[in-house]
Amino acid sequence: MKKMTFFVLRCMLCVMLLTGCGASEEQIRETDASGENIRIGFSFDSFVIERWQKDRDIFVSTAKEYGAEVNVQNANGDLEEQISQIEYLIEKQVDVIVIVGIDSDGLSDVVTKAKSKGIKVIAYDRLIKNANVDLYISFDNEQVGTLMGEALAAEELPNKKVLMLAGPTSDHNVSQIETGFRNVMDANGIEIVDVMYADGWKAELASEYVNNHISQMENIDAIMCGNDMLATNVIRTLAENRLAGKIKIVGQDADLEACQRIVEGTQVMTVYKPVEKLAQKAAEYACQMALSTPVSQNLENGKYRTIFDGTYDVPCVVLEPISVNADNMKEVIIDSGFHFEEDVYLNVRR
Ligand code: GAL
Repeated sequence: MKKMTFFVLRCMLCVMLLTGCGASEEQIRETDASGENIRIGFSFDSFVIERWQKDRDIFVSTAKEYGAEVNVQNANGDLEEQISQIEYLIEKQVDVIVIVGIDSDGLSDVVTKAKSKGIKVIAYDRLIKNANVDLYISFDNEQVGTLMGEALAAEELPNKKVLMLAGPTSDHNVSQIETGFRNVMDANGIEIVDVMYADGWKAELASEYVNNHISQMENIDAIMCGNDMLATNVIRTLAENRLAGKIKIVGQDADLEACQRIVEGTQVMTVYKPVEKLAQKAAEYACQMALSTPVSQNLENGKYRTIFDGTYDVPCVVLEPISVNADNMKEVIIDSGFHFEEDVYLNVRR
């Protein structure tokens, strides 16, 4: 079915060319109707965090349905390695490079180089600043922070004091999440007593923080964790200090361990971001771009937003995140197939 769609897409493109209403002639790259020759490079930060394995698998399988081949690169959290891997993809002359950037500021030059070679670039889930990417596709990250804040505001917080153990400032999403979270805390008179930014999303930094501030934990009602891996380390360290369950925890990514904790009562909520939808849409846009179909003509029929990357206004598509707690775990996580029921409720007698 997808190959037929692709064939129709190719025909549409030819019609647009003949009528002069589509991409210019020189933009069209030679691929056959089935898209067999489409080559996509996908540069990942790392696969340590559970969700990225799902993003990778769904992206690759969707792209293959369109007949495209995907060259996946894993930088293991090292920016210099990511830059050299992107350079490698440029030398391979792929049609499109999709990037989960390790650092929103550190990739501008290599993205500019890719674009100068006629390669389209998609910033996947994390904005790459000052690079004029052809598309930024992510979730509404400010809403992620808002959902975390609203979940805590709905709890009885006796001291109205919380900590924020966030991701790295090098990840543009982190500042957006912080904005949403702070807005809700301010609106509800809840004090953010301290903030820690975990460089490279290193979860051990969260354990270190809690251990170094264990005496202050007595007055803390809740901890906003930038993702579920940070939450795992925080909860483990609190338990080692006999404080588990006394401090409310929120996170994001809907990791399996976090979903288990939520139904077991040791984590209040997580933010689920339908990565299967993100990966599918990104793969579809990448394949369309490979045929040099102008992005604007594809993004939701041209009704796309733009986001300022520090220098340029770039096309962007943002999907909606979903707050998940024990009440809607089945409806959101199990029914979507994101995790199996027997895995989430492994330790819960039903
Ligand atoms: C962020 C992303 C989050 C989470 C985090 C790593 O960039 O927005 O969803 O995946 O990386 O856990």
